[in-house]
Amino acid sequence: MAKVKIIETGLRDAHQSLIATRMRTEDMVPILEDMDNVGYFSLEAWGGATFDTCIRFLNEDPWERLRTIKQHVTKTPIQMLLRGQNLVGYKHYADDVVKEFVEKSYENGVDVFRIFDALNDSRNMEMSIKTAKEQGAYVQGTISYTISPVHTIDAYVDFAKDLEAMDCDAITIKDMAGLITPNVARDLVTALKDEVSLDVNLHSHCTSGMTLMSYQAAIDAGVDIVDTAISPFSGGTSQPPTESVVASLKDTPHDTGIDLELLSKIKEYFAELNEKYAALFDPLASRVDTDVLIYQVPGGMLSNLVSQLKQQSAIDKYPDVLKEIPRVRKDLGYPPLVTPTSQIVGVQSVMNVLSGERYSNITKEVKEYLKGAYGRPPAPINEDLYKQANGDEERITVRPADLLEPELDDARKKLESENLMKKEEDVLTYVLYPTVGEKFLKGEAVAEDIPEPKVEYTASNIPNAYDVEVDGEVFNVKILPTGYMEMELSSQEIKKSIENGLNSPMQGMIVKLKVKVGDNISEGDTVAVLEAMKMENDIKADRSGQISEIFVSEGDTVEKDDILLVIDD
Ligand code: CO
Repeated sequence: MAKVKIIETGLRDAHQSLIATRMRTEDMVPILEDMDNVGYFSLEAWGGATFDTCIRFLNEDPWERLRTIKQHVTKTPIQMLLRGQNLVGYKHYADDVVKEFVEKSYENGVDVFRIFDALNDSRNMEMSIKTAKEQGAYVQGTISYTISPVHTIDAYVDFAKDLEAMDCDAITIKDMAGLITPNVARDLVTALKDEVSLDVNLHSHCTSGMTLMSYQAAIDAGVDIVDTAISPFSGGTSQPPTESVVASLKDTPHDTGIDLELLSKIKEYFAELNEKYAALFDPLASRVDTDVLIYQVPGGMLSNLVSQLKQQSAIDKYPDVLKEIPRVRKDLGYPPLVTPTSQIVGVQSVMNVLSGERYSNITKEVKEYLKGAYGRPPAPINEDLYKQANGDEERITVRPADLLEPELDDARKKLESENLMKKEEDVLTYVLYPTVGEKFLKGEAVAEDIPEPKVEYTASNIPNAYDVEVDGEVFNVKILPTGYMEMELSSQEIKKSIENGLNSPMQGMIVKLKVKVGDNISEGDTVAVLEAMKMENDIKADRSGQISEIFVSEGDTVEKDDILLVIDD
């Protein structure tokens, strides 16, 4: 019986799960010193989606964020989430990138690396674990937890033994969808404690509503560390509330020893942030959803799906997409749903539903996944789908990263020639995110505004008097009802249409233009590549003809139905 240790996720997973990773560094800084005094096992504060969001939406340098946090947190280890060979991106990077990224992360302040692979393929974790250990970091070898016919307790224990043999310091059960039941939590923790001689850590999400019960079962079975989030950023698709877990264990053999009054001060601070970011909290992501037990969609993926479907003006298809996800997952050999497999399965499911015909368009990522480019699928894949996607093309059976050429030297040369290399880390930012990263390094990224909380206008509170300024003079204008009046609150959507124009099928960013004015093309030719929902989608010509006009350039963001180019007969 030992005291339970706490990992606080308020600075990473909690806001990733609830407000799409939008918390700014400036909002973290004022509370860091107090958090440093709590006595957490570690503060999870970096990695996961924070890197991408910093450069894509916040115009913040993720490396600067890490250094800033490190300046204020001097006693508590800083933890990051690392996607094995995918680092903080969505694909495999060459070993030279992985090594450099882990070294620079350690150098800038990461003490604890939680390293996982979406497929639990240890070959994809080797390089990052080895490098982190060489630096002297603490490494949590991580099990991506899911439910399927092949994901048994025995299989997880075997995997944990591999991680122990790779010199990891602890085993983390990463239950990203909040699927673990109290029963499984007890059995799995018991088995791991029996068969492996490392500390065991449980990380879960409240999505299904069972999590506090599962935490108690894991604690009774001897779990050493649990992950929680300060209460204003807890619950729903985030972690269980830190204060509740600390209070529950008080005066028991598992007492965390953490001071509830100090937590109360931190809670008040985060409650203010909760209000500041109120408009970003999606009600769907903040509540308990027992459907997760059927669809097994992790919290972050759930809130992403909602915002992606809204962007595509297809939120009514949400239930159909949730039903499609388990079917795609089965076709792919039951991958656990976590980045990047959650995006791979999620985007293909959205496309299967939106197009009305399953697999009429197969994403590049699904094709690659089926080949083995992401590693070994946990169970056999659907062979018919393989043939449809890849024909007779050969499969990858080696460690996927063995097929990748070193990437850093060329990238460094390119950045240096454009005078974009201000520090060593910039080359990593660029290699991980070539399009968004280059835009960021050029200083062209724009921080998005934090949206104002929405005001619901009803008949009783709708404003009927306005101050209107004309050339510096202010007129007070009153609106009086004249019989029946229809109020139009939202601006009329103007459909853009140009003869022979090719519309963007969805909202996203143009990452590649494959044609120029004057090119002759055939129907079905790929004219551009659009990055949407973190995946690359080919945009194909809907007719044969000649490109007469192009309205977009690489790097441009486009809305659904924007005209991209014109194809004349
Ligand atoms: Co998580």
